[in-house]
Amino acid sequence: MKILVIGSGGRDHAIAWKFKRSPRVKQVFVAHGNGGISETATCVNAKSIEEMADFARKERIDLTFVGPEKPLSAGIVDLFQGQGLPIIGPDKRTSRLESSKCDTKVMLRELGIPIPEFAVFSDPEEARSYVRRVGYPVVVKADGLAAGKGSLVCSSVEEAEKAIQEIMVERVFGEAGTRVDIEKRLFGRELSFFCFCDGYSLVPMVAAQDYKRARENDEGKNTGGMGSYSPHPWLTDSLVQVIMSRVAEPLIRGVREKYEMLYRGILYLGLMLTEDDGEVTPHVLEINIRLGDPEAQVILPRLETDLVDICEAILTRRLGEMNPVWDPAYRLCLIAVSGPTKGKKGWYKGYPDRYKIGVPIQGIERIDPECLLFHSGTEKGADGGYITTGGRVLCVVSRGGTLAEAREKALREMEKVSFEGMYFRRDIGMA
Ligand code: GLY
Repeated sequence: MKILVIGSGGRDHAIAWKFKRSPRVKQVFVAHGNGGISETATCVNAKSIEEMADFARKERIDLTFVGPEKPLSAGIVDLFQGQGLPIIGPDKRTSRLESSKCDTKVMLRELGIPIPEFAVFSDPEEARSYVRRVGYPVVVKADGLAAGKGSLVCSSVEEAEKAIQEIMVERVFGEAGTRVDIEKRLFGRELSFFCFCDGYSLVPMVAAQDYKRARENDEGKNTGGMGSYSPHPWLTDSLVQVIMSRVAEPLIRGVREKYEMLYRGILYLGLMLTEDDGEVTPHVLEINIRLGDPEAQVILPRLETDLVDICEAILTRRLGEMNPVWDPAYRLCLIAVSGPTKGKKGWYKGYPDRYKIGVPIQGIERIDPECLLFHSGTEKGADGGYITTGGRVLCVVSRGGTLAEAREKALREMEKVSFEGMYFRRDIGMA
């Protein structure tokens, strides 16, 4: 089979790597990939969804798997399906579940799925009066897509007003900030939960812990993710049952029956678990319509079942017959990012703020081949070595019988890599 993976980050590298391991797969292409991905798969210089469909048709691609949310929201699934090209991911209409936080919260409330108290605003003054009136800590979320950085967690009314100013007035996330969803901040345990979904049946995956804040001890700004590990210590079988029956199943049934959204692909629920009198409630903080980055980097290496078989079951609505097998050993992912550096016009603060690119990377070849190396933002430099092209640069993924063992290995191997301004969180997976 010929597979096309859409994407160019660490998650997309992990997806390509997983397909490459399938005995059913002859060739993996990635559009548009990056320097490191080109070691695993053939990178294709197709940037628009139309160019991607042209490539898939001409190359007779058997299956396309979409990594990021942007092409899904732009309608890549509708485009491919219209041309008879098999593709995994939700269509444009269903992708609203990620591309509009405001509309999604309204839908979830109508479906009776647990969510934090929230209100939606398109007028900054009304948003300000609301946060003053409620007085409790809130999270201010840009309505649209903001590369994982659009949720500002606030501890005071002043911080909430500043967040409204940045999102709605200064438009730091552009048009994504036309509206905001302001949610009561819940305090509990946060969990990323994933399912395969064929529109009717759902199969839960293993869970992962993501670390969104830029700095150690969960300080600093929100990022796309600074590291992850799996298995997740909280995800017991009974909790899976609670999440499936209270959130995932009513959601997939509800959006199909009430909103004509046939959800096919990966469902990613960002949950806050709260506990009252011993009863756990999974509140939906966000829905993503794809695998997480860097959750995919620790989940896919644990998947022993062929991903091609799972994708075929999604396409033929036979997912209910699948029972994926998972390696119980731990995986832990550290991400090296472009940190503070001095540029021509002063200092770059570093990811998730402005950062320098084109910086040479050393030491990659010294990483123990037992660890996986996924590239997030690299390209090959003139001398054949890698240079940085993004905020998140590369991921080291280790395996261990315990979380501590996996953590020790990943730290040891990441220490072998260096580039100007390189930063990674050393507290990923720390007990
Ligand atoms: N790790 C968060 C995300 O992929 O959205």
